Amino acid sequence: MSSEQGISYALNTFNRDWALVTAGTIDHFNTMTISWGGMGTLWSRPVATVYVKPCRYTHEFMENNDYFTVSFFPEKYREDLGILGSMSGRDGDKVALTSLTPKAGEQWVSFEEAEHVLVCRKIYRQDLDLSAIPDWAVKAHYRTEAPHTMYIGEVLKEL
Ligand SMILES: Cc1cc2nc3c(=O)[nH]c(=O)nc-3n(C[C@H](O)[C@H](O)[C@H](O)COP(=O)(O)O)c2cc1C
Repeated sequence: MSSEQGISYALNTFNRDWALVTAGTIDHFNTMTISWGGMGTLWSRPVATVYVKPCRYTHEFMENNDYFTVSFFPEKYREDLGILGSMSGRDGDKVALTSLTPKAGEQWVSFEEAEHVLVCRKIYRQDLDLSAIPDWAVKAHYRTEAPHTMYIGEVLKEL
């Protein structure tokens, strides 16, 4: 972040640039596009927070794995992120429909084309509590679907 871009630029990183959240191992993983999330500090450790609805196929992988990655891409891959954010891995190999190349990590998966990858160890998860969400957000996002699960990952390294 340059000083010209400022804090509001950093605050909008997910919403502006989108990212892929990926969980599982190279033999069995899933990925999806996210535009909600954040980076900060918890329990004195650097963390990334993502929000995944239980209906996403990726949710199963987030639940069943201890690690996940958050990958940010150059603008030219936005169309690919659009595909990964509108199709489900339940219905077939959606990554094969993109120009992205999955890359095996020790216990995680990232992508060759990513500009920045945060390798995260899941240290907290919680289903958002519908009764604590403001009405405007319930109306906008949870009329028919269960609220997101929040996952907080300790950022172990950046690839
Ligand atoms: C720009 C964009 C941002 C998205 N952000 C989120 C998000 O933060 N959380 C979420 O649960 N779904 C989000 N989605 C929806 C999922 O990416 C989408 O439902 C995806 O097809 C799920 O794939 P899966 O079933 O293979 O997990 C987003 C979609 C797009 C296009």
